[in-house]
Amino acid sequence: MELADYLQEQVASWPLAVMTAEAAVAELPTGPLFFCPATYGAGELTGDGDLFLTDLTSSPLNGQPFWVVGIGDQCYGDDFGAAILHADQVLRAAGGNQLAAPMIIDYELDDLTKDTLKKPLAQIKETLLDKP
Ligand SMILES: Cc1cc2nc3c(=O)[nH]c(=O)nc-3n(C[C@H](O)[C@H](O)[C@H](O)COP(=O)(O)O)c2cc1C
Repeated sequence: MELADYLQEQVASWPLAVMTAEAAVAELPTGPLFFCPATYGAGELTGDGDLFLTDLTSSPLNGQPFWVVGIGDQCYGDDFGAAILHADQVLRAAGGNQLAAPMIIDYELDDLTKDTLKKPLAQIKETLLDKP
């Protein structure tokens, strides 16, 4: 998945894991989690994405740091990226520690999008590397 690959590349030197909705078995990551789902149906996660989230939140997240940054298509109007906001809400409700506001990326990862990713990435990096 292009977005996850791009993020992985950006944070290669950081202490964190980037996981996509395709991850077969959801295990609590040992480091901070970037969750990158796509939106389908009417603003819904894919079956895999939903399973992943259900597995992941079946026990309390105990302050697990996370960021949801996922994909949608603006043509879907009110449903644009709705699954991303939903996933963020579920992870917060399960006791996760939101590193940055959820971000919806239009399905084409162009240079402009890469620019908008820079700010939250820099903010997250500061948060993570500030920790003793
Ligand atoms: C059947 C279908 C339903 C979709 N529904 C939504 C939607 O409700 N909201 C949205 O933002 N994008 C929606 N999309 C757009 C997808 O999020 C977008 O095509 C994305 O690039 C798919 O990512 P993937 O190719 O990595 O699976 C939908 C796409 C398809 C094919």
